[in-house]
Amino acid sequence: MEFEQAVQGRRMVRSFTPEPVAPAVVDEICDLARRAPTAGNTAAVEFLVLEGDSTRAYWDVTLPSGQREGFTWPGLLAAPVLVVAWVDPGAYVSRYREPDKAHTGLGAGEEAWPVPYWFVDGGAAVMTMLLAARDRGLGAAFFGMFDHEGAVRRQFGVPPDRRGVGTVAMGHRAEDDRPSRSTGRDRPDLSDVVHRAHW
Ligand SMILES: Cc1cc2nc3c(=O)[nH]c(=O)nc-3n(C[C@H](O)[C@H](O)[C@H](O)COP(=O)(O)O)c2cc1C
Repeated sequence: MEFEQAVQGRRMVRSFTPEPVAPAVVDEICDLARRAPTAGNTAAVEFLVLEGDSTRAYWDVTLPSGQREGFTWPGLLAAPVLVVAWVDPGAYVSRYREPDKAHTGLGAGEEAWPVPYWFVDGGAAVMTMLLAARDRGLGAAFFGMFDHEGAVRRQFGVPPDRRGVGTVAMGHRAEDDRPSRSTGRDRPDLSDVVHRAHW
């Protein structure tokens, strides 16, 4: 698939068929995602991959059965693969304490970072993953964990110093998939978002 087609054709898919995705394909997608750029080449973005039955435990802690009725996206729970992206802020602080980066002052601690690059890098990895899924003919959607980050961490043994960026559901798009209401918002014109030479 051409790059432009992948970018223009990508849409969040929130309803999936139960058809599994081969673990090797999931590995290929994660392999591409880990090639996204990271600040100082810190490379501290990691993926918790849940496949088949192990996705159930994710939903049990993030969407307990009492809250499931009336959930806007019931087809999301059928996704055969969930990839939760995690970042390690401490690794960034350590990296920026190294001699070639020490002048930035960012090795002082997480609070020293005007922009927390760990989340920037997590976003780049997620975007790469969404495009890689599309390139392989799969549907995918990114969504947040909101206040369930701690519960997901405990359930799957994620180390306490990692921060959750969010979750990518992927699989084969079901026919009843529909766009979210957010997509009804008009995309600004190119000239509204590109400020050439002066804002
Ligand atoms: C940082 C981020 C967080 C998002 N969180 C959610 C979410 O929690 N639930 C959801 O259904 N969609 C979520 N989305 C998807 C957006 O609603 C969607 O990307 C946007 O409406 C544009 O639609 P499209 O991606 O299909 O083009 C999120 C997207 C991003 C980039």
